[in-house]
Amino acid sequence: MRSPYLTALLLASCSLPVFEQPVPVSEAVVQRVAFGSCVLQGQPQPIWSAIADTDPDVFIFAGDNIYADTWDVSIIERKYRQLGAEPGYQALRSHLLAKGPGRLLATWDDHDYGENDAYRTYPKKRESRRLFLDFFEEPENSARRQHDGIYDAVLYGPPGRRLQVILLDTRYFRDAFDQSEEALKAGKKSGGPYAPTSDTKRTMLGREQWAWLERQFEQPADLRLLVSSVPLVPDDYTTEIWAMMPHERNRILGLVARSGNTIILSGDRHYTEMSRMQHSQDGLTAPIYDFTSSGLNRIWEGGAKQTNRWRIEASHAVHNFGMLSVEYGEDPAVTVEALDESGKTLIRHRIRLADLKQR
Ligand SMILES: [Fe+2]
Repeated sequence: MRSPYLTALLLASCSLPVFEQPVPVSEAVVQRVAFGSCVLQGQPQPIWSAIADTDPDVFIFAGDNIYADTWDVSIIERKYRQLGAEPGYQALRSHLLAKGPGRLLATWDDHDYGENDAYRTYPKKRESRRLFLDFFEEPENSARRQHDGIYDAVLYGPPGRRLQVILLDTRYFRDAFDQSEEALKAGKKSGGPYAPTSDTKRTMLGREQWAWLERQFEQPADLRLLVSSVPLVPDDYTTEIWAMMPHERNRILGLVARSGNTIILSGDRHYTEMSRMQHSQDGLTAPIYDFTSSGLNRIWEGGAKQTNRWRIEASHAVHNFGMLSVEYGEDPAVTVEALDESGKTLIRHRIRLADLKQR
């Protein structure tokens, strides 16, 4: 028999298509969420046991989960098999599955989608999508399999302690970025360095994913984690970031600010950092946090030294993963940590959700 709680949820959501009815994947409270990005298959991955040691309720792959870098679908398949055969990863997966359904989440970035800096023109995106969904054991009849791309949202827990995780697809629908002047002078027609575009017709998410995303923000939740493979707040870089499409960045920052309960999780950069900006619109201002954790076994020391005007903690170019510990209740808060593969804390920052409200 369906619980009154589920019935109320279904009634509240009857304007949505059947496949989008926001029923929590589990009523169990999720308090510890780990995430990470950028893992090169075939290289040692001691970090998996460090993640399992923290006893997360959920783990989120934030992209570059394998380095496919090919138009040959059999290579993508082989690299997923390699990741799946990694003993540390297998142990973490079993640990999570024992806790219940929906505990292992993923989105992709360029390298697992297909190739470096790939966007909507990548020719094998349909095949790659199928391999991604198969690897992460997406049920055959799931809502996620009914639309293009791999975006998804998951709810956990009862009202008052409800967590929503939104997984963006920043690849399948994304238009081209503009090459910077420096790149053009060097004769580079693609692959960056990039510069922000003034063409407001270009999109990061595509029309359908935008409409879907706006509906997700209408779902009741006490805390939202918005997972974007590429950083959203940092705007000083010339790599792939939302700031290359300022109109799209502004639009999503508006959604985050209005929600008053969203923290952004990102990857791609091969080091960990914490960014915070103030976003103002319609006379109201809210702080927006973007926590980058990357990579699980790949780092970029030069990147960690680049200027990021919004960085609020020292960056660390060591193998790392992110851990969020949620306190629900009267004065809900999230402690955000980056840990290295020995379990040492690199970054620690506590965010009171009351402070995220627009003022
Ligand atoms: Fe990437």
